[in-house]
Amino acid sequence: MDIASRPSETPENPQTADAAPPPQAPLIIRRQDYLPPAWLVPEIALDFALGLDATHVTAKLNVRRNPDGNGASVLRLNGDQLAPVAVRIDGQAVNDWRLDGPDLLLDLPGEAHQVTIETQLNPAANSQLMGLYASHGMLCTQCEAEGFRRITFFPDRPDVLSTYRVRMSGDKAAFPILLSNGNCEATGEGPDGTHWAEWYDPWPKPCYLFALVAGDLVANHDSFTTRSGREVALNIWVRKGDEGRTQHAMDSLKHSFRWDEEAFGREYDLDLFNVVAVSDFNMGAMENKGLNVFNTRYVLADPDTATDGDYDAIEGVIGHEYFHNWSGNRVTCRDWFQLSLKEGFTVLRDQMFSADMGSPAVKRIEDVRVLRAAQFPEDSGPLAHPIRPDSYQEISNFYTATVYNKGAEVIRMMRTMAGPERFRAGTDLYFDRHDGEAATCEDFVKAIEDGAKLDLTQFRRWYSQAGTPQVSIVADHRDDTLVLNMTQVVPATLNHGGEGQPEKQPVPIPLKLALFDRETGTHRGEQLIVLDQAEQRFVFEGHSRPPIVSINRGFSAPVAIEFERPAKDLVFLAAKDDDAFARYEAMQSLVVRHLIAVVGGNLDERARNAERGAIAEAFGAVLFDPTLDDLMRGELLILPAEGYLAEQFLVADPAAIHAEREALKAWLGDAMKDDWQDLHDRVSAAPYSRDAAARGARKLKTQALAYLAAGAPAEAKTRAIVQYRKADNMTDRQGALMVLAGLDGAEREEALADFHARYAGNALVIDKWFSLQAGSLHPKVLEHVRQLAEHPDFTMNNPNRVRALYMAFAVNAKGFHAASGEGYKIIGDLIRRLDPINPQTAARFVPSLGRWRRIEPKRAAQMRAELERIAAEPSLSRDVLEQVTKSLG
Ligand code: PHE
Ligand code: ZN
Repeated sequence: MDIASRPSETPENPQTADAAPPPQAPLIIRRQDYLPPAWLVPEIALDFALGLDATHVTAKLNVRRNPDGNGASVLRLNGDQLAPVAVRIDGQAVNDWRLDGPDLLLDLPGEAHQVTIETQLNPAANSQLMGLYASHGMLCTQCEAEGFRRITFFPDRPDVLSTYRVRMSGDKAAFPILLSNGNCEATGEGPDGTHWAEWYDPWPKPCYLFALVAGDLVANHDSFTTRSGREVALNIWVRKGDEGRTQHAMDSLKHSFRWDEEAFGREYDLDLFNVVAVSDFNMGAMENKGLNVFNTRYVLADPDTATDGDYDAIEGVIGHEYFHNWSGNRVTCRDWFQLSLKEGFTVLRDQMFSADMGSPAVKRIEDVRVLRAAQFPEDSGPLAHPIRPDSYQEISNFYTATVYNKGAEVIRMMRTMAGPERFRAGTDLYFDRHDGEAATCEDFVKAIEDGAKLDLTQFRRWYSQAGTPQVSIVADHRDDTLVLNMTQVVPATLNHGGEGQPEKQPVPIPLKLALFDRETGTHRGEQLIVLDQAEQRFVFEGHSRPPIVSINRGFSAPVAIEFERPAKDLVFLAAKDDDAFARYEAMQSLVVRHLIAVVGGNLDERARNAERGAIAEAFGAVLFDPTLDDLMRGELLILPAEGYLAEQFLVADPAAIHAEREALKAWLGDAMKDDWQDLHDRVSAAPYSRDAAARGARKLKTQALAYLAAGAPAEAKTRAIVQYRKADNMTDRQGALMVLAGLDGAEREEALADFHARYAGNALVIDKWFSLQAGSLHPKVLEHVRQLAEHPDFTMNNPNRVRALYMAFAVNAKGFHAASGEGYKIIGDLIRRLDPINPQTAARFVPSLGRWRRIEPKRAAQMRAELERIAAEPSLSRDVLEQVTKSLG
């Protein structure tokens, strides 16, 4: 709210045109201020003399005045913590360059020039992991969004596209493998044990897609023949010793190549595709042209060290980065406000891919669970923003669940309304029309509109409005007619972009619906209705009995629905709906309603027992339904997440939510003890395999243990330690350890010590060891987290390790929301200590504290105080400062 009244620094803002901004005022970048670049850079040649603590960079830019630019003779080259060692214009050394803050300015008289700039870098000292940095003796780059300006001075904006020629040289023993984008055109030996390589990428690209890797790596080599007969060499590069864990990533890569040809008509466009795994990485992975760089956790897997969930995540991320080759690289973004153009669309594409590779029903449920756990809270909190934001201070803060996951949902709705064939016509037109361009979200919508023949005029509001639409439904049945009276409200967001969006317009909400006859148990087919007014009635005739309404099937719209109905209708849908998502949803609603009522103290003993009975009945139906496969059965037995439950309250008491959710779990564990034991026995008999049946069995194995742990802990402990000792795969082992980590006793200590010793030296598995303890239900979890922070294996310099300990803790309501406020202090201290090392990763922890307005007053005050303590730090990064000030505002 405060942000709304803070003056902007942009000169275009009339209120501030002549008032000097306060010294600490953040620079706000606005979408409306977009101007085309004054200068273009059609070609760049880069030369790297590589060294871990000293790398010399020579960049030759062929620049040309942009006919569509403002004609300015000054060329602005962005920099970040760089000093030019030398500057030449058309080969002549010049001294009249000037620095404007971090940027380099040059006056250029003509239409076209060659600008040469030399810079000197220290990759080993780069703890931010942006630009060129060192990781375990190798050198690698990360340039999205604004990391290229940490390598050389350059117009670091995605609408400046260049062809890249890259030469690199370095010690042959330290860096036997030298990689960059495109194709390797030449290699050779240099003096003093050095060697060099020259790479050329013929596809013009923005600098955020540049990459370079140099190190002692080994590869899994394979190839793929595209549908037009191009043979593409595929390499997955890893550190020596890791090559045995790359096959799943390679299989996923080949599946991705094939799938994009079939599903979207997209073929690969180079003869080479390299993937490199690095263990120090801020994000999941990066789609650099022809040279994807991955966090090791999304590449390395074998049954002993990776869970089934890890395998699925690898398949999804490999697909995601590969699909960016078209949605992101061939068609890129005009500016960073358009980020969802590539990310929302590519998430949709990776979701469709994973669905096709496995179970579409289970995949849809998982995607909705992620959306509700991560994006719904964001959309209702102080950092809410539209999928196409209007302003930002630090773009790294906008790689969010909103831009990614809600962005995917918005495009999915277009597909639902158009149908798959017409949607495909729309995406074909989009790729055709904008190939080689830096495009906008508007370009995408227009292409779908033209190609799929849809009117998206009103639909565009999904791009400009923040907030999750709230739909209320009241059913009215008379004679043989059902009337659904619906309303929609998009909640006001007062903070977004500094201006707020106090008033919202209705959006088109496509709802898939089926009406079940409560006697025959059947329906007459699924229909699609579109709620596009604030209030609307939908009339359905020919129903002599009031039908059971199955709505938002497949989660056809990313909205919250309020719909009062008898528990027996939900029990019916949970047991019988033919839409898998709707079945899951009925199950969730049953539990959510119950927990809201008990947390609110609105149920007496009798009513509570009756509701628990209904839930147990639905659980029983799921356990014994022979038509369900175990993967799906596992989904239906998951209780709603605490974060999602908290969303149901205007002001939530996280301790009460946690306690009541655990109480229900314990009741189900005890009341259905025999069922859980039988289930655990049945699924424990299945031998290890990667097929769906065996994966389903493993999913249920740990779920049965978790319910038993809540309701019959002694029984659970015995079973868990046996499961741990007998485990021949990480899914079973981690599941058993997760359950043991929450229980006291010798079994816990035995398993934790064994796990640590068994996997010593395997960073990804040691990450799990940290996470399991930090996320555990153990009463002493706070103490454990403090001790783990002092463990010799803990380091602030590796983002995976930091996240393993502290993200797991920040989502563990039991520890994070401890009444003492200690949990908040742990995260506050972390942010303050991590910010000077790695601001991007530090800023990702702020939202957990930022939700204070939606938490009960005592804890809200503690959370706020923690944010204020962070805000009081003298030199915060732009990343953390933006998130903290918006959260306090
Ligand atoms: N563009 C990456 C993706 O595929 C994410 C990313 C952003 C990676 C910024 C690194 C830095 O989603
Ligand atoms: Zn992406």
